[in-house]
Amino acid sequence: MTESHLIAKYDRPVPRYTSYPTAPHFHAGVDGTVFAGWLAALPEGEPLSLYIHVPFCRQMCWYCGCNTQIVARYQPIADFVATLLNEIEMLGRQLAAGGVSGRRPVTSVHFGGGTPNSLGADDFRRIMMALDHVFALAPDLELALELDPRSLAPDFLAAMRESGVSRVSLGVQDFDPAVQQAINRVQPYELVARAVADLRLAGVRAINLDLIYGLPGQTTAGIARTAGLAAGLAPERVALFGYAHVPWMKPHQRLIDADSLPDAAARAEQFAIAADVLSMNGYRQIGLDHFATAEDSLTLALDAGTLRRNFQGYTTDRAACVLGLGPSAISSLPQGYAQNQPDHTPWARSVNAGRFATVKGIALTADDRYRRALIDQIMCFGAADLTTLPLNATGELARLAPMIADGLVRLESGQLTVTSLGAPFRRVVAAAFDAYLKPESQRHSRAV
Ligand SMILES: C[S@@+](CC[C@H](N)C(=O)[O-])C[C@H]1O[C@@H](n2cnc3c(N)ncnc32)[C@H](O)[C@@H]1O
Ligand code: SF4
Repeated sequence: MTESHLIAKYDRPVPRYTSYPTAPHFHAGVDGTVFAGWLAALPEGEPLSLYIHVPFCRQMCWYCGCNTQIVARYQPIADFVATLLNEIEMLGRQLAAGGVSGRRPVTSVHFGGGTPNSLGADDFRRIMMALDHVFALAPDLELALELDPRSLAPDFLAAMRESGVSRVSLGVQDFDPAVQQAINRVQPYELVARAVADLRLAGVRAINLDLIYGLPGQTTAGIARTAGLAAGLAPERVALFGYAHVPWMKPHQRLIDADSLPDAAARAEQFAIAADVLSMNGYRQIGLDHFATAEDSLTLALDAGTLRRNFQGYTTDRAACVLGLGPSAISSLPQGYAQNQPDHTPWARSVNAGRFATVKGIALTADDRYRRALIDQIMCFGAADLTTLPLNATGELARLAPMIADGLVRLESGQLTVTSLGAPFRRVVAAAFDAYLKPESQRHSRAV
């Protein structure tokens, strides 16, 4: 089968599997009381990871699929910080309710968004101090921030250096000025290069650049040039995301002219050429959409079989428990997933009244855990051990059969392997094990 036939057959809307079950299956049965009970039951000494969602930006990028709001003044951000400090204290109290004395160990803190550098430098310091007060931050803490290079202020860089930020991710998307115009995000190459240099001076050892393919007006030559310029800045990692055009969920994406979006074949070509440029520059592909240098911890984790996937994408984080703070943040606990209220005002009302802002989630069943492990293996390693697949798993095998026939996957002695032909369709292979996915019942972004 030719590549275009494969795309026509398999490029269907499927989840990105940053969780399983995926967020559309969360329900209101998991509320603040359930979440509080899960927290109190966490085993003593269990290391935690924290995710802090900062839902503010200065200007809306038209492609944006993140949970954020545009603010012109600082007051809403100051109010957010005050509430976040309360949420941190409340988490600490609830973790102690299980009878565990002392502060819980935290191995990783990730600030995502929105734009974490929309926080004032002193507010960032205040949040770090509150975390240090409530938790036992590990001496080798992984402290990661998603940053917008257009608003990287010197005082914020100073606060980052003092706090020992170890890892940052910069939004780049595409260096082509015409594409930047079409997505309402103008940031010249020189601005990004300056941000990278400033971050190195601030002591940041690991830098990731986010690129997107499939944007309006993007060409294969353009994305190849962008990938080359990105590699020239010597980041440890590059993420190459496919543009998820979901205007029914993100109405501002209607500002993008849908006719100027590359079709599925052009998207596949754009990914392939950018991936080639990155590999020629010494980067290894990690999972679906990440690239890393040979020495980077993601590459080492891939080789060691310890790579993981969570809401932030591919990660080396091994903590069994990620606690999410801020509006829309999702916690992943051994018992299940719990998501905060997505909107700022009701999130703040709940937290400031001393109640967790959890509005939905899902408790994991044994079957969910089994399928999650298979889906994680496919998403991380392009392979899965199916020897424990129950004999009645006829639906899964039927869904795999055409992919085997078309050479996208191999199944030998119970070992499933995604072939290089099947690599762009990893999400579709994973979806064969998704017990919740009903054809056409949900609308996800396209697979390729
Ligand atoms: C929270 S932003 C990064 C930090 C900062 N807000 C910025 O944009 O510079 C996370 C990343 O998600 C990616 N992203 C956002 N919307 C997307 C979409 N609709 N499809 C694919 N990737 C998207 C972008 O690459 C973006 O850099
Ligand atoms: S891509 Fe980043 S800067 Fe742009 S609107 Fe989304 S979160 Fe904000």
